[in-house]
Amino acid sequence: MAEDRTPVSENPLPAVADEPPWWQDAIVYQIYPRSFADGNGDGVGDLRGIAARLDHVCWLGADTIWLSPVFRSPMADAGYDISDYCDIDPLFGTLADMQALLDAAHARGLRVLLDFVPNHTSDQHPWFVASRSARDHPKRDWYIWRDQPNDWRAAIGAGSAWTWDAHSGQYYLHLFLPQQPDLNWRNPEVVAAMHGVLRFWLDRGVDGFRIDVAHCVGKDPSFADHPRCLAGEPLAHFNDDPYSHEVLRGIRRLVDSYPGHRVLVGEVNIRSTATVVQYYGAGDELHLSFNFPPLDAPWDPVVFRTCIREVDALLQPAQAWPTWVLSNHDNERHRTRYGGSLCRARAAALMLLTLRGTPFLFQGEELGLQDCVTLPHERVDPGGRDGSRAPLPWLQAPPHGWDGARPWLPFPPDAGELSVATQRARADSILHLYRALIAQRRASPALRRGSWEELPSPPEVLAYRRRHGDDVRVACINFSAQRQTLALAGQWQVLADSDGVPVPRRFAGELLSDQALLLQPVEAAS
Ligand code: NOJ
Repeated sequence: MAEDRTPVSENPLPAVADEPPWWQDAIVYQIYPRSFADGNGDGVGDLRGIAARLDHVCWLGADTIWLSPVFRSPMADAGYDISDYCDIDPLFGTLADMQALLDAAHARGLRVLLDFVPNHTSDQHPWFVASRSARDHPKRDWYIWRDQPNDWRAAIGAGSAWTWDAHSGQYYLHLFLPQQPDLNWRNPEVVAAMHGVLRFWLDRGVDGFRIDVAHCVGKDPSFADHPRCLAGEPLAHFNDDPYSHEVLRGIRRLVDSYPGHRVLVGEVNIRSTATVVQYYGAGDELHLSFNFPPLDAPWDPVVFRTCIREVDALLQPAQAWPTWVLSNHDNERHRTRYGGSLCRARAAALMLLTLRGTPFLFQGEELGLQDCVTLPHERVDPGGRDGSRAPLPWLQAPPHGWDGARPWLPFPPDAGELSVATQRARADSILHLYRALIAQRRASPALRRGSWEELPSPPEVLAYRRRHGDDVRVACINFSAQRQTLALAGQWQVLADSDGVPVPRRFAGELLSDQALLLQPVEAAS
């Protein structure tokens, strides 16, 4: 596997011992490869397309990219159904293209995270083909087979989590589509095989992994019915068996045996922060875990205040480093969720990039994109998640930089106006706002790793102070359609304004509707 390829050079960490690990300072940009950029003109984004557009990520100021799956797959779930973990799907390119992308990213100082999907394979994976071939096949126990189903339900609208296999006369378990059978991580051969997959990519120089449904790999060994499933909820929304922690500890040990502080970011998609904290272990499981409530949150100060307070109260004592994310490929884009308001999307960007924790950006949010609208015949995803997955418009004029075949999904609304080229030419665009906020974050120890403290404010405003030594910043976000006043002791100057009004300027104690400001004490600025 890995032996015949030369690993790329490591990204050295800062030499100073008390510097935080790089991933605490990181700004991660999620690339959804199908829709980022098309290198071969077939209408689907690919690795060459990504390599050709890395400068966009660098210009923006993000330092880490996470690629959604690009491995060999029949694409029943857009690549989250993998039939070969150690090869690239021809739709996206080749292993050589991936190595070229890794080298190109590292040459620019960008780190690369791949999507590791441990819970399930494709039903076309040779392991599953072997497993289902006969009840006494040595790989039968690599998957989860039972004579009787229980009440567990699958996600993506798939109904029962059990599918009958007529050939071998048993049911197999799948927490997602029937084409995504669950692996049995209690079988040591599965552990060894999946560790081999991680080594394959670590040897090629990847900087870490986003771990798909990390909380799902361990299952209740008693296979007891669950009342929440009976009520129609998929098991993947709350599965939380202790064995998942053992699996993650094993993966962490493996990753830690590599130089260069490779990182594990878990998708623990359980809407309970107290439970999610457990997946950081005692510093021996995940380095980072996604924090999901903001992905559902409407533009509401009560919801955000509650969520931010909870993260602060629960993660800090556990020394668990938070993450923040507003959009991804599974959810409506946040601008769409906020009623289509560009103003709110701009204010949310200021919040995202000033909170305590690693921000994750989803490609296109820096353009203020909304979900695309699909006609019935254009729909691709069985889970109805096409909206946020639309192609990125690079140029103003159609086909917006997608010069070959018609792209696999329609463009989002206002694609020309919101294209990268159009917005780069406008200093007051949301694209320039993201870039300015990222630059502010990079330049400020308070924003990168300082303390977080909520400040008194009117109920419609969220205001907080970040502090690291002498470095102080205040962020204030007005969630209302009315002008609000905010009394702060001392003199403050505005460093960033979500409305794009030029900065720096004095803070006059007021916020316009849906406006967010980043402030610095005047004495520090002079
Ligand atoms: C979470 C991924 O983000 C989603 O796209 C996928 O459908 C499921 N896991 C199953 O792999």
